[in-house]
Amino acid sequence: MHFLSLSEFSHKELNDLVNHALELKKDPLSAFGALQGKTLALLFLKHSTRTRVSFEVAANQLGGSAIYMSPDTSQLGRGETIADTAGTLSRYVDGIVARVFEHEQIEELAKHATVPVINGLTNFNHPCQIMADLMTVKERFGRLDGVRIAFLGAADNNIVNSFLHAAPQFGAHLTVCSPKGQSLNPTARATGQRFAEASGSSIRLTHDAVDAVKDADVVYTDVWFSMHEQPSDEGKAAYMPYQVNGALMAQAPSHAIFMHCMPVHRGWEATDEVADSSQSVIFDEAENRLHIQKAIILKLLG
Ligand code: CP
Ligand code: NVA
Repeated sequence: MHFLSLSEFSHKELNDLVNHALELKKDPLSAFGALQGKTLALLFLKHSTRTRVSFEVAANQLGGSAIYMSPDTSQLGRGETIADTAGTLSRYVDGIVARVFEHEQIEELAKHATVPVINGLTNFNHPCQIMADLMTVKERFGRLDGVRIAFLGAADNNIVNSFLHAAPQFGAHLTVCSPKGQSLNPTARATGQRFAEASGSSIRLTHDAVDAVKDADVVYTDVWFSMHEQPSDEGKAAYMPYQVNGALMAQAPSHAIFMHCMPVHRGWEATDEVADSSQSVIFDEAENRLHIQKAIILKLLG
């Protein structure tokens, strides 16, 4: 079994992962030994702070180990194929966490690996992040059903796509607020719509930031330009009305929390005033990467 997209898992499976992670958080070493003698390869074609470190620490706290690999220090950087890399790593390690560019690259890796592959971010989606985020929302509000999530930023974005794959399965409402002219990823939107119809939740795209946050329980933003994209001055100007600042947070209900997957481009998509406020849960999200990924590793390799 691989962990490539949240759309491939049922609500029950995702809910079990969230609940297991909440238990693991209470006692971080409670599953020590479950990964004894096992090794994860962390194959990262892009930069990472949280994903890399949380997976390494998770492997250690489960009694296993992790090996970090980048193109600079492996034959991948000299043109060895993903298929040959997958075949080789499968003879040494028990699971592969990969951060790649095109989503097809992780599908290719999974096709040729004989061990579980976990998606540590592609241009298309970021399933481990959204599981940590849903865990964080449940931790704060005690539920996900009926929670209103407002995302401000790029509409066709890996964070949004994973939200579309999971939030409606839990009955959470999702509003995406982006500059005019942007639209949701059609595939992720269709999947999300199907889940929303089944759970009675909703998916909405708006271009009005105040309208997006006025009844939100969660105000979420991400970088306006992902790692695979080039920032531009014109692009930045188009996004400025969607900056999460004190004035915009004041339009949201006072119980609303501020979320960001990090890294935060401070002064662009969010101000210091918001990121460092008492409503901000950004470090809880970062911490919860560790707990949810342990639950994911145990489901796949345990
Ligand atoms: N949120 C996240 O995936 O962070 P990193 O890019 O630091 O891994
Ligand atoms: N959308 C961002 C997420 C980083 C965790 C990116 O892909 O760069």
